[in-house]
Amino acid sequence: MNQCEIIAIANQKGGVGKTTTTINLGYSLAERGKRVLLVDCDPQSNLTMSFGIDRPDELPITLYHLMTDIIEEKELPQRSDYILSFNNLDILPCSIELAAVEVNLVTAMSREITLKAILDQLRPYYDHIIIDCMPSLGMLTINALAACDRVLIPAAPQYLSAKGLELLLKNIIRVKRRINPSIEIDGILITMFTERTKLSKEIVNLINESYGNHIKIYENKIPVSVKVGEAVLKYKSIVEFDPNGKVAVAYKNFVKEYADE
Ligand SMILES: Nc1ncnc2c1ncn2[C@@H]1O[C@H](COP(=O)(O)OP(=O)(O)OP(=O)(O)O)[C@@H](O)[C@H]1O
Ligand SMILES: [Mg+2]
Repeated sequence: MNQCEIIAIANQKGGVGKTTTTINLGYSLAERGKRVLLVDCDPQSNLTMSFGIDRPDELPITLYHLMTDIIEEKELPQRSDYILSFNNLDILPCSIELAAVEVNLVTAMSREITLKAILDQLRPYYDHIIIDCMPSLGMLTINALAACDRVLIPAAPQYLSAKGLELLLKNIIRVKRRINPSIEIDGILITMFTERTKLSKEIVNLINESYGNHIKIYENKIPVSVKVGEAVLKYKSIVEFDPNGKVAVAYKNFVKEYADE
């Protein structure tokens, strides 16, 4: 049986740590000897650029081309022609062109399962495929939800709106009913947490009260640190850049909680 798990990192709210979580979860799982592929499903291409690719639009094949091939019912190119490898982490990059797919999908027959068609072909090569979603609930995010086995929701207390979370959960349930019955919600990972502020604590309490009964809220929360920005400038995951810092330790502890549960 194929054990590959596809994890979507989703929250339509911008700037809540989706890309940072994708990179650090991926890096930590790879450090544990897992075969990991990170998929950039956000036309902003932050994930792709965080691996030092400053001009993703100059890459010969990106997720845009693969999704277009599926829409046009063409064969996909060789895996080695589009997967980028950085040490023990593989990346399926994207560029701003991916934004055009969102439009083309609307009239495509396979509009909700285009990404799934690509990732299912990659399952045999990986233990974990992690999709970095864009901050919207449009067709690209629906594709990610349709393609994944599990969804992990990063949420930053200072930007949290109960309504936003509700809308995301509604969409996940809709996808579960219509397209992907086996999708599971992993849980909510609190990011950019400041232990000392009253607001942070109050909001975490509120999430616990509202969702804690039916959705897991991870014990390990990711604190705020300027080191995250410094790591980005060095094209590194925080776990690699500052392994003993509080954010790296928090991500490592979270991965323990996540992977060993
Ligand atoms: N724990 C943290 N402490 C401090 N800064 C952080 C932390 N996590 C992420 N950041 C910074 O916050 C910004 C947003 O993070 P990130 O890009 O991971 O969020 P995102 O949800 O992927 O955003 P988008 O919705 O735009 O894709 C980035 O500049 C990132 O470096
Ligand atoms: Mg992002």
